[in-house]
Amino acid sequence: MSTLLVTGGAGFIGSNFVHYVLENTEHYVIVLDKLTYAGNLNSLEGLPANRFEFVHGDITNSDLVDNLVQRVDAVVHYAAESHNDNSLVDPRPFLDTNIVGTYTLLEAVRRHNKRFHHVSTDEVYGDLELDDPNKFTSTTPYNPSSPYSSTKAASDLLVRAWVRSFGVQATISNCSNNYGPYQHVEKFIPRQITNVLAGLTPKLYGTGENVRDWIHADDHSSAVLTILNNGTIGETYLIGADGERNNKDVIEEILEIMGQPRDAYEHVIDRPGHDLRYAIDSSRLREELGWTPKYVDFHQGLQSTVQWYMDNEAWWGPQKQATETRYAEQGQ
Ligand code: NAD
Ligand code: TYD
Repeated sequence: MSTLLVTGGAGFIGSNFVHYVLENTEHYVIVLDKLTYAGNLNSLEGLPANRFEFVHGDITNSDLVDNLVQRVDAVVHYAAESHNDNSLVDPRPFLDTNIVGTYTLLEAVRRHNKRFHHVSTDEVYGDLELDDPNKFTSTTPYNPSSPYSSTKAASDLLVRAWVRSFGVQATISNCSNNYGPYQHVEKFIPRQITNVLAGLTPKLYGTGENVRDWIHADDHSSAVLTILNNGTIGETYLIGADGERNNKDVIEEILEIMGQPRDAYEHVIDRPGHDLRYAIDSSRLREELGWTPKYVDFHQGLQSTVQWYMDNEAWWGPQKQATETRYAEQGQ
């Protein structure tokens, strides 16, 4: 049995990971989370009290981080400012959390010689043309587009430098777009589902030709656990489940699942600098570490996600109005 420190464990992917770890392993889990607008303690309800504890705090607080890192065997680092649209309005928190926060954690794992896994995004590689036969691999040059993706790229490079310069025992994963339960309603899929549930019109940016490579959050969790257990120190693994879809198709699929006309959405102004397409080549993770995704049927995964939001209005309801007010100010 090991003790894991999971940063950002009250957010979307972090909370899914904590549930996954407590259900599938014997590990003890400490979550460190600042509970920003994106953190939600209700996402951690029902966990076994004898194997889990929550610490409210900031990953840029080096004394707090140092104390926690001393207590654990490994750190799995999810905490981040994660939303592109917010990074276009106010980039500063992205620099603080994503860059300085990662630096603070790296210094602590360096001091205490602890295993570190850094969770990152495929957006560090920039975007692809719609007809490009290539996908992102771990050797694709970094070319981030937004303040969000550039701060994630910076954090990845810090991890690589701390491995090479200081011998930190770290791995990195770059994953494609996640969907599933506990995702904040600011993100594409939950925004559209909860718009329908709240009687609002779903919103598609621009023409909707942009392609994202969707993976269920549970598959992301199983991949991170696989890398934590069997990954080679210093390596980068790309995580993806061959789920490429354009946004127009996804919004129409959501409407169909929810019994609405497929065209019952509106086009709103496009995101500035909007990345056109992401696509992941995850063959290294599959071939070297034997990982495979479970949610290979996107339609089924989407149906169960719609059902989760229908069943959990108490979870998302309190966030909805403030989120839509923010979007309305940007004409989106
Ligand atoms: P999220 O916004 O839902 O959650 C982020 C969590 O981090 C929140 O609980 C928040 O309170 C916490 N946090 C923010 N700043 C903090 C700080 N300074 N100190 C401590 N806690 C802080 O994000 P998410 O979508 O779950 O993403 C988690 C990680 O996965 C991020 O690193 C993101 O870059 C990466 N990622 C996300 C996706 C995706 O599709 N959402 C895809 C690939 C990688
Ligand atoms: P998002 O969930 O913000 O993830 P990311 O920016 O990391 O890809 O957006 C996914 C895609 O959906 C992206 O191409 C932007 C688009 N989008 C919309 O069309 N409408 C929306 O209301 C939102 C939030 C996003």
